[in-house]
Amino acid sequence: MMEQPVDRHIFVIFGATGNLSFLKLLPALYRLLAHEKQQDRCHVLGVGTKELSDKDFRERAREALKNAGISSKDMNEWCDTCLHYHSLGKSSDDYSGLAERIRSLEKEYDIPGNRVFYMALPPAIFPKAITGIGESGLSTSDGWVRIVIEKPFGSDLNSAKELNHLLHQYFDESQVYRIDHYLGKETVQNLLIFRFANTIFESLWNRDRIDNIQITVAESIGIGERARYYDKAGALRDIVQNHLTQLLTLVAMEVPAVFTADDIRDEKVKVLRSIPLIRPETVVFGQYEKGTIGGKKVKGYREETGVADDSSTETYVAMKVEIDNWRWQGIPFYIRTGKRLNRRVTQIVVTFRHEPVCIFRPYSSCQITSNRLVITLQPDEGFHLYFDVKRPGEPLWLKTESLHFHYKDAFGPLPEAYQTLILDILQGDQTLFVRADEVETSWRLFNPLLGQDFPAHSYAAGTMGPEEAEKLLIKDGKKWENP
Ligand code: BG6
Repeated sequence: MMEQPVDRHIFVIFGATGNLSFLKLLPALYRLLAHEKQQDRCHVLGVGTKELSDKDFRERAREALKNAGISSKDMNEWCDTCLHYHSLGKSSDDYSGLAERIRSLEKEYDIPGNRVFYMALPPAIFPKAITGIGESGLSTSDGWVRIVIEKPFGSDLNSAKELNHLLHQYFDESQVYRIDHYLGKETVQNLLIFRFANTIFESLWNRDRIDNIQITVAESIGIGERARYYDKAGALRDIVQNHLTQLLTLVAMEVPAVFTADDIRDEKVKVLRSIPLIRPETVVFGQYEKGTIGGKKVKGYREETGVADDSSTETYVAMKVEIDNWRWQGIPFYIRTGKRLNRRVTQIVVTFRHEPVCIFRPYSSCQITSNRLVITLQPDEGFHLYFDVKRPGEPLWLKTESLHFHYKDAFGPLPEAYQTLILDILQGDQTLFVRADEVETSWRLFNPLLGQDFPAHSYAAGTMGPEEAEKLLIKDGKKWENP
């Protein structure tokens, strides 16, 4: 997996006692290092406001790793020797104390100043932490220093610009890793390989051959314990501005000159810049009501703990996006996401144009369907290419069949997105991270939709969203390709 051993470094997790740290970061970090037997090259410093000793933090980390299915003597040893904890104090502003601790760990473990600062924090605290790191001189050292920012990066165009401005006071863009965990998914990365290593599809990938493209990020889960965040964010900020937009740019981008971080990101930004303002009449918001999913009754959004009885936050968004460039002009991209839909699936459906004339029209039993390429990014990762065949016998009858490829059959289980992304951070590869201009261009697109009084149409949990979303496509003479 790693071509070279990672540099000895200190991995500082801000928000170390939170869910992200215990559920994702520590297990991913351990798996990655253990796989290459490089555990001792990484010392983790958990940072938080809670008063914990190293021993307490190690115990909690051990539990978390066990819950993630990791249990070995090596894991215990890693926890005991390579995990440390530092409390920032109640007011969480003791950054000079933190700087001292980091320097003393570097000295003790012979770490040459290589540092990762991982912001696993609520977004409101990012500015304070970034300023604290910068002002205490931690952003410069004899080694490399990288900062990782979780999404959401800002809550609109202005706040994203301000956050970029603050980061750039202390860090060069080459040190900043804005995470969108979708980019760490193998199947999402494979979109580029699929397109640019297989000429058969690339030659069809344009307005002459494609009728429309649909991208769906459907979830069956609700908002769980996240009302405080979600009720302010809504689906537009939570999924559309980041995960869905990333998928859209990867599907629509031009061929980069070479497969490098900046060449790829340049092409993605060009797609975003070719999207005209999204018209409100092509956007549908929805909010789930109570319903049944997988035989289980679930609450409506407004009945979730922490959500106001009259909340108008959208838990569903569908919209039509147009791309005004030579490749895509006139071809609609329909994107949608929602919580409490009837299943969890992330899927891209490319529907090819119909044949110009149906030569089988004398046979009433011959209904031709458009060829479709369905790329499933999760949970059953793979491709399905649908085409018509003749059913044996008489009368002449067509049937839609498909060619399949399933990742799990070819490769077994796929690595966790965080494992891939953390490895890239340690190796200094920014290809799968969002650049400053990319995040701002994407906010620019959606900014006019924020703060608009869109009605959130209700939909029953366990369905595929509100009726209005169906009508959005019917207006264009199309329909959603439901998984
Ligand atoms: C997160 C969102 O970024 O992605 C969540 O904040 C969402 O609301 C999650 O549930 C979906 O991720 P995945 O990997 O399960 O598709």
